[in-house]
Amino acid sequence: MVSNDDIARAAALLRAGEVVAFPTETVYGLGADASNPAAVARIYTLKGRPSTHPVIVHLAGAAQLSAWVLDVPERAATLAARFWPGPLTMIFRRSALVPDIVTGGQDSVAIRVPVHPVAQALLQAFGGGIAGPSANRFGHVSATTTDHVRSEFGDKVPFILEGGDCDVGIESTIVDIRGAQPVLLRPGGVSIEALRAVLNEAIARPGDTAPRAPGTLKAHYAPGTPLMLVEPDVALELVHSLARQGKRLAVLSFSALQPLVSGLTWRVASTAAEAYAHALYANLRDLDAARADMIIVERPPERAEWSAILDRLTRAAAGSAGEDDEP
Ligand code: TXA
Ligand code: MG
Repeated sequence: MVSNDDIARAAALLRAGEVVAFPTETVYGLGADASNPAAVARIYTLKGRPSTHPVIVHLAGAAQLSAWVLDVPERAATLAARFWPGPLTMIFRRSALVPDIVTGGQDSVAIRVPVHPVAQALLQAFGGGIAGPSANRFGHVSATTTDHVRSEFGDKVPFILEGGDCDVGIESTIVDIRGAQPVLLRPGGVSIEALRAVLNEAIARPGDTAPRAPGTLKAHYAPGTPLMLVEPDVALELVHSLARQGKRLAVLSFSALQPLVSGLTWRVASTAAEAYAHALYANLRDLDAARADMIIVERPPERAEWSAILDRLTRAAAGSAGEDDEP
């Protein structure tokens, strides 16, 4: 894995205004010194991301919050005590220190304290905040291994810290804690039920007044191959009928019983949500690499523990269909 020298080198690169890819328990991040606008601009260029889309600031611990936010509402302190370090991002009122390029010009800032030991070591060695979007080109499938990061950016990222497979496999939950009621901006590694249980209050879904969260664009997390989400009970019939039309298919199925048709790539998905999430982006990348005419994904159940997965799959389907990149 990584050595102390690797961590020191990565921290030195960040101080020099360079970009470093780093592992977190959710997905890999593309990190830059969050207090250095030119360094953050490098991330946007690398990702091909519109400059109005804000990025998350990663901190070593809640003790560092005061430099980045105006205030820490009681609700945020409660969530931080329970879920940090971990896959939860909270939206705060920003302090004057936060550069506009980090927030997309908004008066808020997204903060996360990751638990991955390599991310923690880097944050502690660096000392400051690390601006870090997911390490993928804009709109693409996120990266959960260093190979994924390399396949997104080639050698354009000066240094990639090795951290193995990301545990959780999908991005952090984002919750806006500023208002009268907490608002869920993106489902993710921490379930909405867990948030509700700890806060003892209802969590709202974003309405028209919610701040922009471009990870919640209708089209996102998309492979290059068109992706269809289909009910499991019709998947097999669809595979047969498309195969008869000569289509080459790549399928993510809950069943290990692969139909005997030609030109088929078959991946078996776990029926347990946690394991499904862990493997999701690697599976989508594999299916995409098959260069089939279409990716077919069996729709997971509409149960609470699948909500973040359903969210990503729905956006991947919209993105691959080239649907408008607006919510
Ligand atoms: O798990 C994660 O959150 C990963 C790892 C690397 O930490 N990061 C990640 O970053 O997913 P990114 O940039 O791919 O997605 C961050 C989301 C975007 O949808 C962005 O719009 C939203 O967070 N966001 C950032 N700052 C915000 C703000 N001030 N208000 C509302 N949304 C914000
Ligand atoms: Mg992302």
